[in-house]
Amino acid sequence: MPPAHVLVTGAAGRIGRAATELLMNRGIRVTALTLQNDPPIRADRVLVGDATDPDAVTEALEGVDAVVHLAAIPHRDAGKPYDVYRTNVTSTFNVLSQAGEHGIRRAVIASSINAFGVPMNHHEVAPAYFPIDEQIPADIDDWYSLSKQSDELTAQMVARRWGVDVAALRFPIVESAAALLRISERAELDPATRMREGWSYLDLRDAAEVIYRSLVAEWTGAVVVGLSAADTLVTRPTAELVREYAPGVEVHGQLAGREPLIDTSRARDILGFTPKYSVHDERPDERPDERFDA
Ligand SMILES: NC(=O)c1ccc[n+]([C@@H]2O[C@H](COP(=O)([O-])OP(=O)(O)OC[C@H]3O[C@@H](n4cnc5c(N)ncnc54)[C@H](O)[C@@H]3O)[C@@H](O)[C@H]2O)c1
Repeated sequence: MPPAHVLVTGAAGRIGRAATELLMNRGIRVTALTLQNDPPIRADRVLVGDATDPDAVTEALEGVDAVVHLAAIPHRDAGKPYDVYRTNVTSTFNVLSQAGEHGIRRAVIASSINAFGVPMNHHEVAPAYFPIDEQIPADIDDWYSLSKQSDELTAQMVARRWGVDVAALRFPIVESAAALLRISERAELDPATRMREGWSYLDLRDAAEVIYRSLVAEWTGAVVVGLSAADTLVTRPTAELVREYAPGVEVHGQLAGREPLIDTSRARDILGFTPKYSVHDERPDERPDERFDA
């Protein structure tokens, strides 16, 4: 059963706007909690407030039966280390613990591929193996990745303490189709820059869909879910990319064609989600109005 009324935090952001729109289009009431409402968010209730503020979250949770928590500073370098870490972990603790105390039974939070620490690591590191799965050893030396790892622990605590089911979605880079085209063109020219993420990505429309699936699918507990499009950012065969740009990284199993280097079996088996959109299906000349957004 879909929830009747969902709180979306960070609703003015990239993923927040896409998720809010999709939920509204599917007939779910949305309360949006946002630091800014410009341009205005289309939601049933818009509250301008801070997700780290206990009173703002209490007000936002009124009448709500599920939570999608996306508010965060979304990059290591988008703020001072203290501000990035504090905002991310405090907002997640505040939203999830209050959801638990309000008797809310389902929550979705934005974790990140960075929860395992390698992509934003300042040192010369590589994943322990490919495909990257949810058990891959972490190698964290930055505050953003640490915040996402901490958020996943908060999700476990809240599931145990209050019986809230929490899906922590490990998003890879998520962008509009137009922005992904540009990122893909750059990755094609210099594949080494995207090796640590296994050249993964996810279209914004698929990100909104997996949030919806997480709200309606049948699962329980605290689950961490790896995500990716069904191919990589570059057009070369995946095995060739690994041989050339990650020769020391152990590969589990056979790599066929342009298959992704993220293990997405949990997303499929637990959430019933398979990605629909590929950046390689996009035609820049057919999307003139979106070509330079984001
Ligand atoms: N887009 C990606 O590539 C990507 C990848 C992995 C994980 N994520 C995660 O997904 C979530 C959404 O990311 P996004 O790409 O939409 O980022 P975004 O920056 O577009 O959106 C985040 C929103 O959160 C808001 N926000 C920040 N601090 C807040 C606070 N204290 N209270 C209320 N709102 C606050 C911001 O104002 C912004 O509107 C984040 O948790 C991010 O870490 C994003």
